Amino acid sequence: MENKKLIIDYQEYASREELPEADRALLDAAIAAVQGSYAPYSHFNVGAAVRLADGTVVKGANQENAAYPSGLCAERTAMFAASANHPGIPFEAIAVVCSRDGKLMPNPGSPCGACRQVMAQYEREAKRPLRIILGSGGPILAFEGVESIMPLIFNDL
Ligand code: THU
Repeated sequence: MENKKLIIDYQEYASREELPEADRALLDAAIAAVQGSYAPYSHFNVGAAVRLADGTVVKGANQENAAYPSGLCAERTAMFAASANHPGIPFEAIAVVCSRDGKLMPNPGSPCGACRQVMAQYEREAKRPLRIILGSGGPILAFEGVESIMPLIFNDL
């Protein structure tokens, strides 16, 4: 038996001003997307924005339902809308932010496991690493590839 470690490389930006321009625009789109959040149960508002290889940005926000499991996270709302409306255009990056009571949270938003699994699928389709930008009102984290936020990812190929 050997003890092993996984090391995750990522970038931390102190504020949105430090981000490269395209990522700053994507983060701003995710912040704007929060307006579309429908969260009457959790009152936790999440916005996401996907940038496609042709530069198109598709926004999504969490949608809740009285039958709780019928709701959907912001990330999957954005990714499914992107794939449904722009089929076959590879995903380049996704930004996620979260907010409560009209104020961005101090810590970066972090996608749930199901959203990470969906990211992995589109990343595989795209044949290029997906850039994942997690922000809100404080520091912003950027990861290159879904494997960085979901090691030992399920892969049916
Ligand atoms: N939520 C997201 O939209 N994205 C995540 O990655 C985690 C959670 C939503 C689902 C639900 O509407 C609310 O946040 C509280 O869990």
